[in-house]
Amino acid sequence: MENMSIIENIKKPYLIKFNSIGAPAIGYISVAEQQCEIPFDIKRVYWTYFTPERIERGGHANIEKELVLVAVAGSIIIETETITRKKETFQLNKPNIGLYIPSLCWHKMKYTHNAVQMVVASNHYSENDYIRDYSIFLEKANV
Ligand code: TYD
Repeated sequence: MENMSIIENIKKPYLIKFNSIGAPAIGYISVAEQQCEIPFDIKRVYWTYFTPERIERGGHANIEKELVLVAVAGSIIIETETITRKKETFQLNKPNIGLYIPSLCWHKMKYTHNAVQMVVASNHYSENDYIRDYSIFLEKANV
C-alpha cells in the first residue's frame, strides 16, 4: 500500500504551451514565469547549441532537479523514463512549446545541428544531484 501512494505521487513529463504574443507581421514573444507556466521556482537557466547530430546528451536523472526544456530553434527528440519505468518520446520543434521533466526521470536528448535548447531548472548546479549510472537509476526505479 505504501508503494502505491509513492507511485501515485510520482510526477510525469508533460508538454507546456507558452503564450505566443504577436502576429506574423510583427513576430512573437513567449513568456515563462515561475509557478505559472514553469511549475517550480527558477534557480538556473542554461542553454546548449551546436550539438552534432550524432551526439546524444543527457543520459542521466536528477535527484532534486526539475527542468523545462525549450527548443528555441531547431528540433530536439527527448526520450524519458520515469521511476515507474514509463518510457515516452517527445519532440520539441516550436519555440512556444516546452517539456517539463520531473526529478528522478531518466532523460536523453538528440538535436538537429541548428537546435538551441534553453533549460530552466529548479536548482543550482551540483554534480551530487546527478544519477549518471543507469543501473543505479533502475535500483531506484524498483519502487
Ligand atoms: P550535463 O548536465 O551532463 O549536460 P547534458 O545533460 O546536456 O548532457 O552537463 C555537461 C557538463 O557541463 C558537465 O561537466 C557539468 C557541466 N555543467 C555545469 O558546470 N553547470 C551546469 O549548470 C550544467 C547544466 C552543466
